[in-house]
Amino acid sequence: MPTLIYGIKPCYSRHMIQQPQKTSKQLSRRTVLFSALGALVLSILANGYFYSLEGARGLYVWHPVVALKILLFMGLGPISLAILALPLEKLAQKWIMRVLRWISFVGSILVSLVSIGMLAFLIVVPRLGSMDPVHLNLVDPSQGIVTQSLQPEATFSAGADSTTGTPSGVIMGAPGSGTAQASGAAPAALATTTASSTAPLSPLDRPLLRLAFSSDPHWGADTANASARTDVLKGIEASRPDAFFMLGDTVETGNSATQWNLALLDLEAFVSDVPLRLLLGNHDAFFGGQYLYRKAFFPQGFSSDSGSPYYWSIDAGPATIVAVDLPWGTEMFGARQKAWLEKTLAAADPRKPLIVISHSYFYASGYKDPKTGVPWYDHYQNIPALVPLFEKYGVDLVISGHNHYQELLSHNGVNYAIVGSMGGIPDPEPSYRSPWSKWINAGGYGWLDVDVLPGRLLLTFRSETGETRQSATIFY
Ligand SMILES: [Fe+2]
Repeated sequence: MPTLIYGIKPCYSRHMIQQPQKTSKQLSRRTVLFSALGALVLSILANGYFYSLEGARGLYVWHPVVALKILLFMGLGPISLAILALPLEKLAQKWIMRVLRWISFVGSILVSLVSIGMLAFLIVVPRLGSMDPVHLNLVDPSQGIVTQSLQPEATFSAGADSTTGTPSGVIMGAPGSGTAQASGAAPAALATTTASSTAPLSPLDRPLLRLAFSSDPHWGADTANASARTDVLKGIEASRPDAFFMLGDTVETGNSATQWNLALLDLEAFVSDVPLRLLLGNHDAFFGGQYLYRKAFFPQGFSSDSGSPYYWSIDAGPATIVAVDLPWGTEMFGARQKAWLEKTLAAADPRKPLIVISHSYFYASGYKDPKTGVPWYDHYQNIPALVPLFEKYGVDLVISGHNHYQELLSHNGVNYAIVGSMGGIPDPEPSYRSPWSKWINAGGYGWLDVDVLPGRLLLTFRSETGETRQSATIFY
């Protein structure tokens, strides 16, 4: 124990008072800076992981909500305040510095918690719950499509024409005609008719291949029409196509195993024997949903010529089908996919019709999103990035979803069909009509049949109950 003498200040008392103050100040600065740096690293990790997920990048471009921007830049807040507090240490008034440090420190804790929560949400939630085991006849892209023989004819009755737009029965082109293309590939000509009957086909007109396409059923969405969706499935089962392609947005929120199970159970109930292949849509990809998509529809043992479960080509016998990965736009269309696509299109057999499928569309009528101003029509990313390749290599038909309409368009010898009508809430009446639109149906549900015949494709847009809304012939 030191001896205290009255009136004499012990020499160590200065250190006892001042040194702890200095240490506290250094620690405080260090703590604030390190916690802010830690929060920044965690936020970069969380956002980087999210950005790396299949289909997530498009969310930043096509769904520019404030919450997403806050998540993206939240890590910069605490570190900015911590740095701002440094020069304030020299001020006589220390309270401003202390307040900034406290805000930075509390912000660091919040950003760290949100980042860890975000990572847990993206990694854990898709892996919660199990997928129901179901019997489905899934198409493995590497195995191609086996054309069925002795298939029964579809026996749908013709319905009232609910089209808007150009008159039906107009010949849009003739075989071998059309706008000049970049290569020697012959442009596909288009003739549209509104069918008034479904006369039996003669043996010579028997299809070589029968395909069905629809998109955007949105299982799990309160706004989806489950009855129309079921009708579409029943109609496709009844028509017994060689393959049925669903072009994405199978579920409303991709990270929900519950919603995928709803889809699986319905698909098993109504189309278990129909060869089925799905694409990944933007909704399917939500928040790590690609994990469940692959688990349900691209299981272990499946493979593709591209090495990706999201884009591939299929040898469909008398036709070539090429799927591209465009959940929102071109965010996933990098150099690797572009090189693969160009090589695949160039190598396609010119004697067979070349059909490209995708989730997001190219030419399309639509509207401007009232909340975000995003244009849901003639796609400003997809058109410049892919259409030149379609025209160069003589693609005959491009089929997409994303917009919830049925539409037929034609541009520079390439024909485009929109089939986003499998139960998702119909998009509003288009306020923008694409100059390349030949026919559109808004507000209805249904699917598209494509019959491959020698020298031509027969397109039939159907309502959910199988009635013919519009027919078109494409010559290849
Ligand atoms: Fe959709």
